[in-house]
Amino acid sequence: MLSPLLIILSIVAFVVHTLRHALSSPLNKIPGPWYAKFTSLVLKWNEFRANRTQYIHDLHLNYGPSVRIAPREVAFASAAAVKEIYCSGGSGYDKTEFYDMFRVYGRRTMFTTLNKDDHAKRKRIIADRYANTNIVRSPSLDGIAEGASNFVKRCFQSIGGSLDLYVRLHSYAFDCVTHHLFHPHGADSLLSSKDEEIMREVTFDDSLQNRLFQHYWPTAHKILGRILYMFAKPRETPLADKFVLDTCAQTDTTPFTLLNRLQNPSYNLDHTDVAAECLDHMAAGIDTTGDALCFLMWELSQPSSLHYQRKLQEELLANPGASFDKLPYLDAVVMEGLRCFPAIPMSLPRYVPCGGRTVDVFFLPAGTIVSCQAYSVHRIDRSVFPNPDAFNPDRWLEEKGDPERKRLFFAFANGGRGCVGKHLALAEMKMLLQAVYSRFTTLPDAAMAPEELGMSDQLISSRPAGQRCLLQFIPLDAVTGE
Ligand code: HEM
Ligand SMILES: *[C@@H]1O[C@H](CO)[C@@H](O)[C@H](O)[C@H]1NC(C)=O
Repeated sequence: MLSPLLIILSIVAFVVHTLRHALSSPLNKIPGPWYAKFTSLVLKWNEFRANRTQYIHDLHLNYGPSVRIAPREVAFASAAAVKEIYCSGGSGYDKTEFYDMFRVYGRRTMFTTLNKDDHAKRKRIIADRYANTNIVRSPSLDGIAEGASNFVKRCFQSIGGSLDLYVRLHSYAFDCVTHHLFHPHGADSLLSSKDEEIMREVTFDDSLQNRLFQHYWPTAHKILGRILYMFAKPRETPLADKFVLDTCAQTDTTPFTLLNRLQNPSYNLDHTDVAAECLDHMAAGIDTTGDALCFLMWELSQPSSLHYQRKLQEELLANPGASFDKLPYLDAVVMEGLRCFPAIPMSLPRYVPCGGRTVDVFFLPAGTIVSCQAYSVHRIDRSVFPNPDAFNPDRWLEEKGDPERKRLFFAFANGGRGCVGKHLALAEMKMLLQAVYSRFTTLPDAAMAPEELGMSDQLISSRPAGQRCLLQFIPLDAVTGE
């Protein structure tokens, strides 16, 4: 039988142990709330409430660019920290087991490999397909152009009512990414009306709490699994899983696609590895680009931003037929969109390597978890980004401060493990905005509440809380003809 004395003694032992640890930690010099010395529970509470980004940003505002957020975890927001953590030695510090949550079909992909060597091996195979020279080559761009033109058709159909951008932009990103990975509309078009069902399954995912619980408390998750499912569902994407497995079983693949590259026998990847890598790129490329465009077009449609929308339209109308990458104001709009609403605004956790390292001015022992979050890196330094919470594309056109702004731009992370899909994402964003704003003015639909576009954190990405975004599309000739 458990005696009360034994229980009391164990509690005392636990408290003494925690206190000793907390009071002797080399991280004690780092600013932060007092409780972070003892527990990570407040941080986890905010994670479970889909509020980690805001929580950490508030800590940065209160304590500065270096903050201790848990007993063994520190958050940074300076350019020097970004360089040290994500770029030193090429690809920065190794990833933590946080990334185990993203394994696909039980395999590790490029994104989920933890150490440098495994990562470098996989990246040598993949990088070529995402190089800018290959993105701007016509077979890749054709898919994006077709997607943008389908999108514009929907805008025209919506005139007089409104269009749910959230769904339409995710469909667009789905088309662009699957085109790049598989070129599915070639041969015997595997894609059909199933597209949208698969997109919805990937996008409308409610597994955040379940996945966090499983990650932090795996044993309890096993025991409580069934009860837990009543409140928090596990991630299940049967349609997408099957779609990718079937598509990757094709043998006559189109040369420019990622699938074609991964299937090359000299790389020795089995069918499941190939499918896992492809499904991972769908997960990485659809919600990010869709959410980023959604937040940005919502912002451009607000009364306070209509003069920016007008400037964009003027540039597009003055340069009909110009290539999407030759338009400076379009570029400024996209940069400012990604600065204010980086689709991955959250911490990207890494381990301090053997021997410890100094980040900012603080020495950190090996094994400390360190991270930067784009949301704060983009806002904390007011000398580089004055009035940081305001959306203002014009700031990117000023010559002064250009290198400083670029150094603090972290939407695609940085270094060897930064976003491999960056050029594809930028091409998608710019071609869509060019297609829309050379034809329409966009305005928010009266049915929308502003909270619906609030940030709802997932594991590392953040999406519009309401998962819808109704906009009205007014044809430009109707406006100028007034
Ligand atoms: C606006 C859109 C996008 C944003 C904001 C974005 C952002 C990011 C960020 C911040 C990372 C680093 C994550 C980390 O260190 O944990 C990343 C990695 C990655 N992204 Fe993107 N991404 C976007 C679009 C895309 C697209 C379109 C694709 C491909 C179709 C893609 C594929 C990947 C892959 C494969 C990685 C892992 C790279 C590696 O570990 O070497 N992303 N992305
Ligand atoms: C999110 O965190 C911020 C900053 O700590 C806090 O002010 C806000 O109330 C939190 N929101 C939720 C929904 O927990």
